[in-house]
Amino acid sequence: MNISVIGTGYVGLVQGTILSEFGHSVTCLDVDKKKIESLKKCISPIYEPGLEEIIERNYQKGNLIFSTEIEREIEKSEIIFIAVGTPPMEDGSADLQYVLEVAKKIGETMNGYKVIINKSTVPVGTGDLVEKTIYEELKKRGVQVEFDVVSNPEFLREGKAVEDCLYPDRVVIGGENEKALNIVKDIYKKLSERETPFVITNRKTAEMIKYASNSFLAVKISFINELSALAEKVGANTEEIANAMGMDKRISPAFLKCGAGYGGSCFPKDTKAIVNIAKQYDEELSIITSAILANENQKNRMVQRIDREMNGVNGKIIGVLGLSFKPETDDVRDAPSLTIIKGLIERGAKIKVYCPKGMREGKERLKNLENFIEYCSDEIEATENVEAVVLVTEWQEFKEMDLNSLKERMLGDFLFDLRNLYLDRVEARELFRYIPVGQR
Ligand code: NAD
Ligand code: UGA
Repeated sequence: MNISVIGTGYVGLVQGTILSEFGHSVTCLDVDKKKIESLKKCISPIYEPGLEEIIERNYQKGNLIFSTEIEREIEKSEIIFIAVGTPPMEDGSADLQYVLEVAKKIGETMNGYKVIINKSTVPVGTGDLVEKTIYEELKKRGVQVEFDVVSNPEFLREGKAVEDCLYPDRVVIGGENEKALNIVKDIYKKLSERETPFVITNRKTAEMIKYASNSFLAVKISFINELSALAEKVGANTEEIANAMGMDKRISPAFLKCGAGYGGSCFPKDTKAIVNIAKQYDEELSIITSAILANENQKNRMVQRIDREMNGVNGKIIGVLGLSFKPETDDVRDAPSLTIIKGLIERGAKIKVYCPKGMREGKERLKNLENFIEYCSDEIEATENVEAVVLVTEWQEFKEMDLNSLKERMLGDFLFDLRNLYLDRVEARELFRYIPVGQR
């Protein structure tokens, strides 16, 4: 099949590449010329384990093409995926300008039947809006061309995106027309052959499944994070609580890991977006609203705890390990590290920081605080002569760190383990004033 994917970010690039791996002829399109130039050299503009090899393999085969010529490709392909960003606006609602810009371009250009598949995470009813936008453009041109808009939300996780696209838990396809639904099912034939569950539903339900799933996961994290604060005070152990809760199959152990709060380009934005959608329909999503608040509290609680334990951080140098919102990604969007670093600086601390992949984006996002931050070339440099180390992201190389040498190069002995990475290392408690999350 000839497929165009518009938007070559974390979702479009990975999903486009995997569709080419499944044997389709895929063109990944973007307005960002730099991204496309880099991809034409088979260099991925994002860090995603295992992705570059698959890009290179399919690019060499001619299955995978990269281009900025969006109009030309719209004309050529019958199947068009929309995978552009839907960032949050000031009021928390999803900014649909990129999705609608693409819809407009499709309407301005298309000459034959198209299935337009929306992969971006969008408010319920966006499929209708895309449809309307295309109709209006066709009307302006005075042409009648058939098309269908299908919702096919994406559930990949950053850092595990390749694996998630190759082996998803389910494929959700929402649409109103049998012909279009069958075309989309056919695109994922390789997955149905592997007995991946398919959920075929209407467009609005599919759109809502995506927000519902992300919000539920965010609620789980906030639930355990709130309990972690109480556990610290009463002397209980949150890891053991989560473990025992998770043994109940109805609860499951997934997403019950307490930490510095959830971050990333999706949970923070999608929880706010669905609350905003509900408001428009005079509904209050009080559980999700509370999860958002609990997440803010958890990030701020980390700062307050560090400040309290150190008897004030004013004038002290603190080594921070990790900027990305989780390991195995270079994505720093809404990362807890940003709140924690800002909070510590506001209280008078100076920061030394290192992250394996998040340095470039982290620097950009913390630009206005550059006078208070020293960006280091590795974890050794970031922890030299510091009063405290704050582990924010659980990268494997931090896990493997020699704690004896860490202690030797530090000035102080505080080790704040905001991801409970060193819980089973006896040296952590022997050498440091070791402070994990959710237990004493
Ligand atoms: P991203 O910001 O990494 O990529 C979006 C890309 O779209 C950018 O490269 C941008 O240049 C391009 N773009 C913007 N306007 C364009 C236009 N008019 N024409 C062509 N290209 C255009 O975003 P992302 O993280 O890939 O997310 C995309 C969507 O998928 C969002 O709605 C997001 O919520 C959803 N999603 C993301 C993830 C994730 O893990 N990142 C997972 C599931 C769903
Ligand atoms: C999340 C979802 O897991 C994906 O299914 C979804 O497709 C994606 O959002 C999206 O819509 O973009 P992602 O944000 O890449 O994926 O990462 P997660 O692994 O879900 O982690 C999100 C945040 O929650 C991270 O900051 C992580 O540290 C935190 N987290 C996760 C916890 O604090 N505790 C947990 O138990 C799990």
